[in-house]
Amino acid sequence: MTDEELMEKAKEASKNSYSPYSKFPVGACLLASSGKTYIGTNVENASYGATICAERSAIVNAVVNGEREIDAIAIYGQKMKMCAPCGPCRQVIAEFKSKSKGTKVILEGEDGTLKTFDIDELLPLGFEL
Ligand code: THU
Repeated sequence: MTDEELMEKAKEASKNSYSPYSKFPVGACLLASSGKTYIGTNVENASYGATICAERSAIVNAVVNGEREIDAIAIYGQKMKMCAPCGPCRQVIAEFKSKSKGTKVILEGEDGTLKTFDIDELLPLGFEL
């Protein structure tokens, strides 16, 4: 599974976004240690704080299917290049980072090329128990 393929799936997933309040559709697709991929999208709510981000919905999708380690996650915002994960999503990604490889976060840059970061770079000194 290439970074480009993961980003394509994230783009596809953003089409199912439920974002009537912000009108800011986001999609995510993660590659789990099993080799399987899991998509997610943002799901908003009239009680705004109950909104679930695309990254966390992809992670919940993976975890309920038995996954525990994320090798990579691509994130796509239809209205924003370099749609970087919010703070709480960084913390949730870090919870499931691959113990041996870390987790690669894949974003689409201004020029359309993919930029990759390690989750530890995006969340230095993250809280862990
Ligand atoms: N959102 C995500 O899904 N992921 C992010 O990393 C940033 C924000 C969503 C939440 C909300 O539905 C909308 O984008 C605007 O904040």
